[in-house]
Amino acid sequence: MTLNRLLLTGWLVVLSQGAHAVPLLGDAENGKRLHDANCSSCHKAMFGGDGSGIFTRPDRRVKSVEGLSRQVEMCNSNLKTGFSADEIKDVTKHLNDAFYKFD
Ligand code: HEC
Repeated sequence: MTLNRLLLTGWLVVLSQGAHAVPLLGDAENGKRLHDANCSSCHKAMFGGDGSGIFTRPDRRVKSVEGLSRQVEMCNSNLKTGFSADEIKDVTKHLNDAFYKFD
């Protein structure tokens, strides 16, 4: 493979990943604050400690960034937490940065 082809292939990989990934643009610090204040009580009661065991358990439900974003939206509306769209992004970014670590 020539160098040019190699570079081209590299770029295609970057571009195709970019097209699939949901850009996680939230403010993780704000997301942590929102999450810890509004979301962790049940998770703590179920898993002990800071409750984060629910995000790191081997059979966790969330399998992708998209799924994480959907789950945060679902909890928010089911529980009537009242997060705005931006706050949902912040919480999603925090949970991904701290626990899920999807690309
Ligand atoms: C009323 C209790 C309760 C509150 C409050 C709560 N959750 Fe949950 N959460 C649960 C339960 C129960 C599950 C596990 C569901 C399951 O295992 O099927 C869960 C699961 C989750 C998961 C998926 C974990 C996995 O398996 O990958 C995420 C993400 C999550 N919650 C986020 C939130 C967010 C964000 C909030 C705040 C808006 C919140 N939760 C508030 C009870 C709660």
